[in-house]
Amino acid sequence: MRSNQETSEKSIGIFDSGVGGLTVVKEIMKVLPHESIIYFGDTARVPYGTKSKETITRFAIQDATFLMEKNVKAIVVACNSVSSNSLDNLKSSFDVPIIGVIKPGVDNACLKTINRKIGVIGTAATIESNAYKKRIRKICPDAIVYSKSCPLFVPLAEEGWIEKESTFLIVRDYLQELLDKDIDTLVLGCTHYPILKHVIQEVVGKGVFLVDSAFYTALALKELLEEMNLSRKSTMNVESLFYLSDIPRKFSDIGERFLGKKIKNISVVDVTQTKK
Ligand code: DGL
Repeated sequence: MRSNQETSEKSIGIFDSGVGGLTVVKEIMKVLPHESIIYFGDTARVPYGTKSKETITRFAIQDATFLMEKNVKAIVVACNSVSSNSLDNLKSSFDVPIIGVIKPGVDNACLKTINRKIGVIGTAATIESNAYKKRIRKICPDAIVYSKSCPLFVPLAEEGWIEKESTFLIVRDYLQELLDKDIDTLVLGCTHYPILKHVIQEVVGKGVFLVDSAFYTALALKELLEEMNLSRKSTMNVESLFYLSDIPRKFSDIGERFLGKKIKNISVVDVTQTKK
């Protein structure tokens, strides 16, 4: 894609299976405050993390097609389940730079680990794809990877059960087997997990470094935009538009918890009819 002044003024498209990707939007807004954003959350069809690769890819193509119709200059696949199952397919289907959350998370996990024992947690679709494991093997072949899907973390984050004793117990139940393997680094491979970061840190202890892929993806996006000369030049008229396929119950509370501020400019759209 040619980069010119007009292209760099366009928005960044970000999509996720639902509200979770707002944790990625939050980091992008911090790292790139002058970029405009168009977010699509497929709240009508969430979760993706329990679905097959074929279904996740079909949904992801529709989600990205919707963003392309909005004329975005780049796409961030905020969803780990999509990034791990469908990124290559998306990259070969669309003519804008597309980044996912796996590579930024892995690159930083490999930089942080000292004992080369890395834990990865995510949805079943993410863990079963082995995308994290494969990427870690490529970047730090001597590392040993211990993976675990933690499906209950998604509803806990959405319910806002962050300070509760029961959440602490559930988190410990899931993570004990990784701790028994002596991991020193843990990749939070799901959009929802940064919401539970404090309780996860409390359970794993200070000796385990938590890799928040949302933060590292924002840094990777900044680098990509600079490299491709796509960073927005103006600092005025920054716009954030939010599209959802459904307004879920309690959305304003959940959305605010994930984004860290109230969400304005929400529209409901049906992306199932989008044709690539
Ligand atoms: N956004 C998903 C992910 O990061 C979590 C929710 C879902 O299962 O769709 O994998």
